[in-house]
Amino acid sequence: MAATLRTPVCGLLGVEHPIMQAGMGPFGSGASLAAAVSNAGALGSLGGALRTSEELRAGITTIRERTRRPFAVNFTQPWLQAHPGSFDLALELGAPVVSMALGDPGELPARAHEAGVLFIQQVHSVRQARLAADRGADVIIAQGAEAGGFGGTISSFVLVPQVVDAVSPLPVLAAGGIADGRGVAAALALGAQGVNMGTRFLASAEASISDGWKQALVAAEAEDAVKVEVWDDIFPKPANGAFDVVPRALRTPFITKWQTDRPEAARQASGLQEDLATGMREGRMEQYVPFTGQSAGLISSILPAAMIVEQLVAEAAGALKRMQELDG
Ligand SMILES: Cc1cc2nc3c(=O)[nH]c(=O)nc-3n(C[C@H](O)[C@H](O)[C@H](O)COP(=O)(O)O)c2cc1C
Repeated sequence: MAATLRTPVCGLLGVEHPIMQAGMGPFGSGASLAAAVSNAGALGSLGGALRTSEELRAGITTIRERTRRPFAVNFTQPWLQAHPGSFDLALELGAPVVSMALGDPGELPARAHEAGVLFIQQVHSVRQARLAADRGADVIIAQGAEAGGFGGTISSFVLVPQVVDAVSPLPVLAAGGIADGRGVAAALALGAQGVNMGTRFLASAEASISDGWKQALVAAEAEDAVKVEVWDDIFPKPANGAFDVVPRALRTPFITKWQTDRPEAARQASGLQEDLATGMREGRMEQYVPFTGQSAGLISSILPAAMIVEQLVAEAAGALKRMQELDG
């Protein structure tokens, strides 16, 4: 019999397993990955940041063609400040869940609720978690500093139980550093009701990043995924209400060069922004700043997303059983 792992948030989100695949903008989290994860009984996400309205529309339409199960559309606050129509489009096209990261959600949870849509907010501190709860978020993601992509400075082990206490009874998903079932079980032990995982799903067959990035991720040790402080020197601090974050990515010659020469050199070098934007557009992000978490050190294979979900649930159920056996 297949292993099961149900927590109350499964009922709220309408999923079988308390596992969410993170929205990762255009980096991997396209319609194929989201639909595969949702069809496997977890919550798939379409990354909405850095996508045009046409891309967003096509992505949501494709997911709805491929699955009848719930999925999320993810945005970042700086992106929505510049492109507010993206949020309305996701609601209009019937996304069952929207999730957001990197800033104060403001009135967006209320607007999602008016459309009958659930709202999930990712945070990096207890203060941000309280703010998101006050704004009306239905689920809070507590993201520790181990995470790939943009994040804060507090590790998951320290952050998750504090956020759980701060926003109780709201459900919390743990993110950052979780790539196998032991991590899922640990998150539940810390009081989370589930997990939000990015890096493990980047190393999936369906993720739409280059093979070079996937191979580098599999080959990497945890310490190869570094905080890229020089990002701030290349891109000016984002809009009002944005959280204070620094990205984590696999070290590349680009990062070594500009991080070592920072800050003046990177700030004054014209064309760096354009280089990065072109690299992103052309699918060559692995040459620049390939967002990846420390959990790369736990990942040794590229698997179909459904197999990843199945293994996570089986391993977590096994780990929880072993923990129960400790009791007496
Ligand atoms: C390549 C990449 C891009 C990301 N982009 C986003 C994003 O656009 N929106 C978002 O909410 N989170 C984003 N994240 C962060 C994830 O939501 C999540 O917190 C993180 O991946 C969890 O840590 P893990 O990478 O150790 O699983 C990104 C993560 C990665 C690895």
